[in-house]
Amino acid sequence: MNKITAAITAVGAYVPNDVLSNKELEKMVDTNDEWIFSRTGIKERRILKDPTLGTSFMAINAAQDLIDKANINPEEIDLVILATVSPDMPVAATAVYVATQIGAVNAFAYDLQAACSGFLYGMSTASAYIESGRYKKILLIGADKMSSIIDYTDRTTCIIFGDGAGAVLFEPNTEGLGFQDEILRSDGIGRHSLKIEAGGSLMPPSEETVASKRHFVQQDGKTVFKYAVSNMADVSEQIMKKNNLTNDDVNWLIAHQANKRIVGATASRMNLEEEKVLMNIERYGNTTSATLPLLLSDFEKQFKKGDNLIFATFGGGFTWGSIYLKWAYNS
Ligand code: UT7
Repeated sequence: MNKITAAITAVGAYVPNDVLSNKELEKMVDTNDEWIFSRTGIKERRILKDPTLGTSFMAINAAQDLIDKANINPEEIDLVILATVSPDMPVAATAVYVATQIGAVNAFAYDLQAACSGFLYGMSTASAYIESGRYKKILLIGADKMSSIIDYTDRTTCIIFGDGAGAVLFEPNTEGLGFQDEILRSDGIGRHSLKIEAGGSLMPPSEETVASKRHFVQQDGKTVFKYAVSNMADVSEQIMKKNNLTNDDVNWLIAHQANKRIVGATASRMNLEEEKVLMNIERYGNTTSATLPLLLSDFEKQFKKGDNLIFATFGGGFTWGSIYLKWAYNS
């Protein structure tokens, strides 16, 4: 019998309709379109404005998009993993609600949090379950309502992030397609460089934590940038070497969209031509857990069966890594 590999067999996405442009941010904080675009590559981002809707709303819509497009019976889904840093509530897991809402009534579900690497780590988990033979259909969703945890008076963070969701289905493959290899890393040295300080067990919510805005994302951008540039490039180069891939063998780089200069540094270390480097940061900003599946959804039609995709991320924690995957279908 052929070895079982874990292939992505369907993709779905959802972004809210409301657009927050650089021009509008100019009216909110001391910034300008030229600075934002030249430093980050971002022109606009999507915002889920309705205060009654949380991350689950976008996750459900992304999952439903996948189910409708691929004509999946949700009752056959075994597991729903939701990568997110902005769950609806700290407890109960948002994934559980999402699974029930989409009709995945036979699935178990849980949230996975690894900042901007959450979806990448989820790809590893989903693939390992499929390869083991234990489960046959795993829905991996990445969704974040970043606007709910961003301080819109802090120009160093509010220009970067946006809201969105994406989903992929992992299924067994016997043609050798799908997940091939991974290099995953983390380092607690980054704990204070990108964080939401309050609301956890170390600093429970209080009037003081609210007054001092410690429930919002705080980032030491320069430090994160430095680590992101070297680490994301390192693992991407390493995974190519480990799998004897030259730049000609790699068809697409699917890198976390935090800053176009960070993606550029990774692409240049891999010696990749610009057209192989997928970008959508201009339209969405950094959507944290949703970035990788949104790229897959935006560029799905260009992928051919057998294409070699390299995924790469860097995020808070620090967390980072790279995954090599062979695309499994023509759309
Ligand atoms: O997704 C998780 C991982 N996150 C990342 O990978 C983000 C990594 N970091 C970055 O992408 C970049 O560090 C930023 C985009 C956050 C900042 O870009 P930078 O080139 O590192 O700028 P900087 O922090 O060095 O700031 C340069 C100048 C400063 O002014 P002075 O000190 O030179 O006078 C800032 O005060 O730009 C100023 N500045 C701004 N100016 C206009 C900072 N934010 C803004 C702003 N508009 N929004």
